[in-house]
Amino acid sequence: MTSVKKIVVLKGDYIGPEIMTAGLTILDTVTRGTTFAYELIDVPFGGDGIDRAGDPLPQSTIDIAKQADAVLLSAIGGPKWDNALRRPEQGLLEIRSKLNLFANIRPTKIMSAQIDRSPLKPEYVKNTDFVIVRELTSGAYFGKPRKLEANQAIDTMYYSEKEVVRIMHQGFKMAQRRNKHVTIVDKSNVLATSKFWRKIATQIGKIYPDVLIDYYYIDAMTMAILSKPATFDVVITPNLFGDILSDEAAQITGSIGQIPSMSVGESGPNLYEPIHGSAPDIAGQGIANPISMVNTVAMMLTESFDEKKIADKITAAVNYIIENHYVTPDMGGTMTTDEVTQKMVDYIKNHE
Ligand code: NAD
Ligand code: IPM
Ligand code: MN
Repeated sequence: MTSVKKIVVLKGDYIGPEIMTAGLTILDTVTRGTTFAYELIDVPFGGDGIDRAGDPLPQSTIDIAKQADAVLLSAIGGPKWDNALRRPEQGLLEIRSKLNLFANIRPTKIMSAQIDRSPLKPEYVKNTDFVIVRELTSGAYFGKPRKLEANQAIDTMYYSEKEVVRIMHQGFKMAQRRNKHVTIVDKSNVLATSKFWRKIATQIGKIYPDVLIDYYYIDAMTMAILSKPATFDVVITPNLFGDILSDEAAQITGSIGQIPSMSVGESGPNLYEPIHGSAPDIAGQGIANPISMVNTVAMMLTESFDEKKIADKITAAVNYIIENHYVTPDMGGTMTTDEVTQKMVDYIKNHE
């Protein structure tokens, strides 16, 4: 008998619930009639955590998440909680840290139907297929001391050897399963943490002689990722640089509203989430792009549940709506979130 998988659902803020509904609709549609059985556990988190339970990461939420098979998040935050003692974003950083999710994988893969929607010329973007491996639980986001005072503020960029070694292994192992090319991105002409990052990258690289390594400073990389995106395979970069670079990379596909991500640790459940935020500027209008959330669900099925065949049905449905231009305004379309989702549902049902 197959076990029932426990999926913790963090439905998020602003457009969060709108796209989560879409993602769960597709999950339901695509798993009907299969042996994949799951239970959804909705718990308070982010702004919704503040509203429902007084904190962006209630203790009960982290306890339940630790017992789950996977955690599925849409996006959190927004102006409603700008003055909260603990903002929704604090909850996100804490859940990543408490689940020890040190690596965040953010793919940029251009499908043929997306080439015309890219703001870049087709000859630049065709064949683009790389992943950013973003270190997620250290660096400038977590280093101490950090202080915000009346006349000064401090953040600390910190990396331990263990933290850099494990993210490098993660990236090099991924490269071995892909196109055997790692790009190390840092600022080692200036920052001590980056000199350290590059030195360890070079040492770890020797353990993977089949993988080609090259190096970029982050400033030059922001250009290269637009001028020759198809030349990259696995990009390993510290927390802050990875945050910035992945939003930039998303633009290659035409909209950030398409990009999923997964955060992984040494053990315990993975966390799956689109890379974008809660998009307060379009919330409540019913026009949020559901593709990022739907792709996130597909990633979860493949990576946590080994259900690639089911995930492939989702990918086919996503391809179909993009090819037929059944898309939301961020991709130049005129459809609502629900209409796009229904097109995917119909496609999946017609291809059983
Ligand atoms: P954002 O990613 O929410 O939005 C940036 C732009 O992209 C906006 O114009 C938005 O409309 C658009 N966009 C994003 N997702 C979209 C989608 N699915 N469909 C269509 N358009 C989409 O970034 P922001 O505005 O800087 O941040 C808003 C809030 O989200 C902030 O509180 C921020 O801290 C938070 N945030 C949360 C996460 C997360 O939960 N992982 C990630 C990033 C930002
Ligand atoms: C992301 C977001 C988060 C980050 C914020 C909301 C804490 O921008 O997931 O990319 O900076 O990691
Ligand atoms: Mn970000």
